[in-house]
Amino acid sequence: MSRAPVGVIGTGYVGLVTAAGFAELGSEVWCVDVDEAKIAALRAGQIPIHEPGLEEVVAEQRDRLHFSTDLGPALEHARLLLVAVGTPPTYSGDADLSAVLAVVDSLPASDRHALVMKSTVPVGTGTTVRRLLADQGKGELAYVSCPEFLREGSALRDFRHPDRVVIGDDGGWAGDAVAELYAPLGAPAIRTDVSSAEMVKLASNAFLATKISFINEIANVCEETGADVVEVARGMGLDGRIGSSFLHAGLGFGGSCFPKDVSALKQLAGNSGYHFQLLGAVIEVNELQKRRVVAKLEKHLGHLVGRRIALLGVAFKPDTDDMREASSLVLSARLLAEGARVHAYDPVAEERARELMPGVEFSQTALDALAGADAAVLVTEWPELVGLDWSRAAEAMGGSLVVDGRNALDPGAVRAAGLTYEGIGRP
Ligand code: UGA
Repeated sequence: MSRAPVGVIGTGYVGLVTAAGFAELGSEVWCVDVDEAKIAALRAGQIPIHEPGLEEVVAEQRDRLHFSTDLGPALEHARLLLVAVGTPPTYSGDADLSAVLAVVDSLPASDRHALVMKSTVPVGTGTTVRRLLADQGKGELAYVSCPEFLREGSALRDFRHPDRVVIGDDGGWAGDAVAELYAPLGAPAIRTDVSSAEMVKLASNAFLATKISFINEIANVCEETGADVVEVARGMGLDGRIGSSFLHAGLGFGGSCFPKDVSALKQLAGNSGYHFQLLGAVIEVNELQKRRVVAKLEKHLGHLVGRRIALLGVAFKPDTDDMREASSLVLSARLLAEGARVHAYDPVAEERARELMPGVEFSQTALDALAGADAAVLVTEWPELVGLDWSRAAEAMGGSLVVDGRNALDPGAVRAAGLTYEGIGRP
């Protein structure tokens, strides 16, 4: 059976992965982006982001994937227009909806098209967009909220195996068409209204971020009391009501989603007169968590003036080159402010990181970054860094302190190399 063609507006992480995923399921996909250079690169088979497997799928599906800066072909061939444009935070903590609104403005009146919102937007955006469409004489365009839950680094896997597909609409043809589009993935479909669908997304991200800040606070108490947060999380996680995922203590959460979405939900509540106290604490704990490493280094090294610190990994998490809200940004700036010399290594994110981390020296290998270092901090748990040969690291280093900012190393292996191991919330 032939699959419905789709339009995808915005070819960032979400848009490109979604486009590749639907092409793989058999749809012709018409991708649109305002960035001419990006479209030219995609037409030439170049993928502008690091996402495991994506390049291969885009290459395999090149006959089904069409790229253009013009909305025309997408409108001609597809009824469902999936919107996956950026909604970055503004200075006030609200989401910047200008890219979404530009898409709305660019659409013609039509009773055969639907706008399917994949971008993360504040609750109420669907209502605003439908009002705008009506004001512009385009009220016949259907609107569906279908938030995205994929994670960077495992985005294709998440597309192929979603835990659920959330579809919010007001009962026309488009909600059923979106359900049909996702049906081959076999995930439970949550059919609901637009505002509830929008809230499912924000509340899910805020809850996961809360889990992380919670376990980070438990880790900090473990440090005071001699318990090991890794054991504590293992014991907690087996309780089916709690679950073991997102209970990994570390340097805090980063990325383009959690920090932005937690602030956006807090701001959304504030705008309507409700003070969301819990989320204020989630954000504050996350900020402090990145900075606590400096105190750990000082505990062992005394002052940091002139000390050489090696940062192992700088991306906000492994398997991505994304530096948005990476813990390394705050950590490196704090270390430089304390007078330390900061050397960093990341297998993929160096190019993006260089611009954002002035004053940091980048090395081509982990061992080069470690050369002469008084201390090493594991910031991003890339497999290459987790599997480092600690005897060779010990030979390269000038000092002996290893701070495991992700609790990802084997403390025994680090200690066996004659190094001092400090985790997060571990004795
Ligand atoms: C997150 C959500 O997991 C996705 O479901 C959602 O679609 C996405 O945001 C989004 O809204 O677009 P992502 O930001 O790609 O995905 O990455 P995660 O794997 O969720 O990690 C986020 C941050 O939390 C990372 O900095 C990671 O190191 C940190 N983290 C995660 C922890 O510190 N501890 C954990 O136990 C888990």
